[in-house]
Amino acid sequence: MMSTLAFDIKETTDSKLSQVDFDNIEFGKVYSDHMFVAEYEDGEWKNLRIEPFGDLSVSPANATLHYAQSIFEGLKAYKNDAGDIFVFRPEANAKRLIESAERMCIPPIPEDLFMSALTELLKLDSAWIPTKPDTSLYIRPLIFANDPYVGVRPSNTYKFLLFTGPVGAYYSEEVNVKIETHYTRAVRGGVGSAKTAGNYAASLYPALQAQKEGYHQLIWTDGQNHEMIEEAGTMNLLFYINDTLITAPTSDSILHGITRDSVLTLAKDWGIKVEERQLSVKELIDSIEKGEVQEVFGAGTAATISKIRMIGYEGKQYELPKEKPLCDRLFDTLDKIKTGQVEDKFGWVCKI
Ligand SMILES: Cc1ncc(COP(=O)(O)O)c(C=O)c1O
Repeated sequence: MMSTLAFDIKETTDSKLSQVDFDNIEFGKVYSDHMFVAEYEDGEWKNLRIEPFGDLSVSPANATLHYAQSIFEGLKAYKNDAGDIFVFRPEANAKRLIESAERMCIPPIPEDLFMSALTELLKLDSAWIPTKPDTSLYIRPLIFANDPYVGVRPSNTYKFLLFTGPVGAYYSEEVNVKIETHYTRAVRGGVGSAKTAGNYAASLYPALQAQKEGYHQLIWTDGQNHEMIEEAGTMNLLFYINDTLITAPTSDSILHGITRDSVLTLAKDWGIKVEERQLSVKELIDSIEKGEVQEVFGAGTAATISKIRMIGYEGKQYELPKEKPLCDRLFDTLDKIKTGQVEDKFGWVCKI
């Protein structure tokens, strides 16, 4: 990957690297030494720079704090034993950030700026990329409205940040999920396909109720009738039923997951029948009862392939088969592609 844009780099004099316990990395608690920053003012992105990771100062009237005009991304970098650095499908994240920006009236970050920021930051903080199995460097780009103005309108000023942190597994075990038939994550015509802050805020209360009942996550259903399966809180859902891999079609109420797309591409390449179509809760439950459901799993950057052990629906719990060979094959293949151990025939991996 080539860096095309020049920007200032101010290196930290107080690296935190030696404080990190790379044998016990939890998800999302530790951040690398540097971050990329750019500001949008007078109609352009300017003041491009890398500086030490640190707190920001914002006005109490900051538009994002009040009205959530902000978007983000999530992707991962990996390092192999030879020290080569790989990022999985960063162009897809850059494009999705542009799509989210359009929906949220945010000026987009050009793809070349996104890639240059990523490249330079990873080069500088390459020692932060963990190498043990199931670990990676999580990369979090975000753009937020920065006007100190409490009126409701698109902001005139924005900040783009890109920071990273070493992470371990998101879920350490198979997950139990509850089909949600009361609360709604996203509706047709809403912002569900944008990776924007409010979607996640809205999901907290229903997810907490489900956690109190012993579930890890929710399966969201359509906002109108709660009959059709949409996705989970931080991952898309795939159902392997009668040798067919089924997932909800992308729409404006579902995040267009990059892992979802990668899984569908691999499955088609392996000759597995794939259907992107509506799956009703009724069809799913009937299929489980008939013993036709082979595997159910989530697909997302944070969780990669997340096996689902049990599905709860209207007070009943439906256990799924223990053996999940398709999940294992997908996880293993994606893992090897991401770390450059097998041929990257789809051109997904970006070597830094
Ligand atoms: C709501 C939601 N759905 C799906 C996904 C999976 O998307 P991806 O595979 O691009 O990480 C995520 C995570 O980014 C998410 O937040």
